[in-house]
Amino acid sequence: MEKRRYERPLIKPIKAMLPGKVGTDAYLSPVLDIDGVPIERLMREYGSPLFVFSEEKLRSNIQSAKRAFSTRYPNVQFAWSYKTNYLDGICQLFHDEGSWAEVVSGFEFDKALQNGVPGSQILFNGPSKSKADLLKAVQKGAFIHIDNLDELYLLSEVADECGERPKVALRVNLDAGLSQQWDRFGFNYENGQAWETLCKMERMGKFDLKGLHCHIGTFILTTKAYAMAAEKMARLALRVSQELNVRLEYIDLGGGFASHNTLKASYLGGPDISPSFDDYAEAITSAIYKVPMKASELPMLVLETGRALVDDAGYLLSTVLSNKRSAAGRRYTVIDAGVNLLFTSFWYDHKISPAQPYSKYFEDVTLFGPLCMNIDMIREYVCLPLLNRGDHLVIHNVGAYNVTQWMQFITLRPNVVLVDRKGSVSLLRNAETLQDVKGKEMPIK
Ligand SMILES: Cc1ncc(COP(=O)(O)O)c(C=O)c1O
Repeated sequence: MEKRRYERPLIKPIKAMLPGKVGTDAYLSPVLDIDGVPIERLMREYGSPLFVFSEEKLRSNIQSAKRAFSTRYPNVQFAWSYKTNYLDGICQLFHDEGSWAEVVSGFEFDKALQNGVPGSQILFNGPSKSKADLLKAVQKGAFIHIDNLDELYLLSEVADECGERPKVALRVNLDAGLSQQWDRFGFNYENGQAWETLCKMERMGKFDLKGLHCHIGTFILTTKAYAMAAEKMARLALRVSQELNVRLEYIDLGGGFASHNTLKASYLGGPDISPSFDDYAEAITSAIYKVPMKASELPMLVLETGRALVDDAGYLLSTVLSNKRSAAGRRYTVIDAGVNLLFTSFWYDHKISPAQPYSKYFEDVTLFGPLCMNIDMIREYVCLPLLNRGDHLVIHNVGAYNVTQWMQFITLRPNVVLVDRKGSVSLLRNAETLQDVKGKEMPIK
């Protein structure tokens, strides 16, 4: 029999079956596989840390989102938000499910083209489009979402120079009843900026006005905000049709649906409070139907949902490097995945599961990453079984914004794999090598 490890004795109050603020303690089951593929095998073959995506989850998420909207509204189009996760394999999967591409830079635009998305299915957002980006977007027939007047004038120059009529939509910001109004992007609805700009665009006579766009914020937990935004956008579309005589093809409500992550300092956990796709769809479509438009005139409803589609399809597997005690006696556990890979740990309390069976002893721990800097903390307080060097952990809901916002700091980025529906594993992105980083450096002449 293998000798059992010594663990320091621990005195804890007995809490058995006493409900806390959200009921009794949940049993923390170890996660031993992802879609049937053993974690131990994934880590043996692809190393640690390791990002793993589930094809099953990605496809079922987009399919349920589409179902929620298309059972309530006749013309719905999802556009995959590249910035949320622009690994080609992930984007291609969403395109395969019928999603267009929503991009915010020339780099993302090129990525979408290389993924086979025709220009006519690319929505170009963002405040920093260069003249070359605009020209490319016009020539490819993409929808350009105008963010500010300087951009409008630049696009007018581009249109003159290339002799084409750009397809445009106006980015609108509005009061959706939220405490924070995102008014940094686009033109304001309430103070009339948006309307004046629409009139100006029509007067200029150089653009094909196709739609209206807004993105009210991110991780929006209240569906009422979407209802307000949708109604305002639909009213604006109606006014454009009545007063400017332009029938808009679409209204685009951007992204922002909450995933099942738990925001830091949130009283309740994400899975308990995040609205479902049906909740969002019901609020949005009922609000549009309040506006008196004929069924045949209803514009296409575009959604640029990002995190809610991909977050829970991504896992980060990690290995325990060491345990130590703080000066005050608190258990500190250091793992091999830090904020360099998990940017979202700055605002979420990610769910963490042990990846092997464990003893009955639990303790509150602070979980640190491997970086030699003090802010590298993944969870400040998390109750975990006593893990030893070499044990594995699964960090959940990491699919959104981490493989785009990760940083190459001190160490290299790891492998990213996809577990497909047949249980096969394939690399989505190879682990970086020293040469990948050094190869960009130039010797001093
Ligand atoms: C214009 C736009 N569309 C879509 C998204 C995707 O948002 P989310 O991932 O919160 O759904 C964002 C993210 O900030 C955005 O800025």
